Amino acid sequence: MADARKFPHHLIREIFEQPEALRRTIDARVSLADGLVRLDDIHISREELRAVRRINIVASGTSRHAGMTGQFMMQELAAVPVDVDYASEFENRDPMIGRGELSIFITQSGETADTNAAQHEARQKGSRTIAITNVEGSTIAREADGFIYTHAGPEISIASTKAFTAQMACLFLFALYLGEIKEKVSTALAQHYIAELLALPRKTETILAAADRVERLAELYYRVDDFMFLGRAIHYPVAMDGALKLKEVSYIHAEGYPTGEAKHGPNALIDFRLPLVVIATRDSKDAGSVMRYEKNVGNMEGFKKQGATVIALATEGDAIVPKLADHTIFIPEAPELLSPILEIVPLQLFAYYAAAKRGLDVDRPRNLVKAVTLE
Ligand code: BG6
Repeated sequence: MADARKFPHHLIREIFEQPEALRRTIDARVSLADGLVRLDDIHISREELRAVRRINIVASGTSRHAGMTGQFMMQELAAVPVDVDYASEFENRDPMIGRGELSIFITQSGETADTNAAQHEARQKGSRTIAITNVEGSTIAREADGFIYTHAGPEISIASTKAFTAQMACLFLFALYLGEIKEKVSTALAQHYIAELLALPRKTETILAAADRVERLAELYYRVDDFMFLGRAIHYPVAMDGALKLKEVSYIHAEGYPTGEAKHGPNALIDFRLPLVVIATRDSKDAGSVMRYEKNVGNMEGFKKQGATVIALATEGDAIVPKLADHTIFIPEAPELLSPILEIVPLQLFAYYAAAKRGLDVDRPRNLVKAVTLE
């Protein structure tokens, strides 16, 4: 792991440890040669997994944002309908789940009481359960039918960063694993995605190498009182987590919202006083991604007409978004299903630098704890 002495806080060290955390989470579980994903701790038979007709993902905080990206991954790669729930809400909706369904519980600590209670309820209703956690031997892992460890190393800072990107990598690995079992993913497609997974750490290092650009951006905006983060489709959970990071560590009020929904209300807030972070990346080889990109460009034109300041995340080589945005942070191109793992990194950096410039205790924000072990 990165040399801890180089960093003033756990949070910035853990942000910079993400390439290594991704390598430790991904490399030993994929084989590029035969296009296979190997998950040794899923103690559910292939027959039962092949028959899974619905997946419920349940988590809290940043872990739920990972689950929201997992919904897109599993629906796309395994053709299985997926619901995502707040752990604290799961029991309130008397979930109609049971046999033939799979429930996935994502929790960095493995000890979040709401999430553990939700797993207990899912098991009682007959659902098989899988845990994705960063703590080996934690309660959630011990009580699940199967588990996938994020090998992110101990995450000390209360705000979750390296565990979050490792959780999304694990969700993608499981989506590919399930897609292969359900014969929805060809070997060639699996090999393509495995090569892209293996390229993520290096692309993350590219983004981290430009951290000073994000720091300069934080210098311009750390005194601001409100922010809105906007993202479409699988980028919406990234907007949600970018907003949560900023709230958690800098105490700046921030809201994550689906870009296409801004016109249904939030637009009334958008003027020169409300800076926007708009995720406007694209995978030029994916028609759906390009269609969403074009809608984002249209939305940005509207926001600029309203006088808003726009900070955009754009794909390297894009010449359109930088002309529209006041500031652009570039992300290396990647398949859309994997892009959240890259897009969140500059937003983590932005939250860190804003909080540090406000002189706050970035590793131990007021009123927060690392694991809420009480419901
Ligand atoms: C909160 C943490 O208390 O719990 C968040 O501040 C975290 O960072 C959330 O995302 C869920 O924790 P866990 O351990 O269940 O992922």
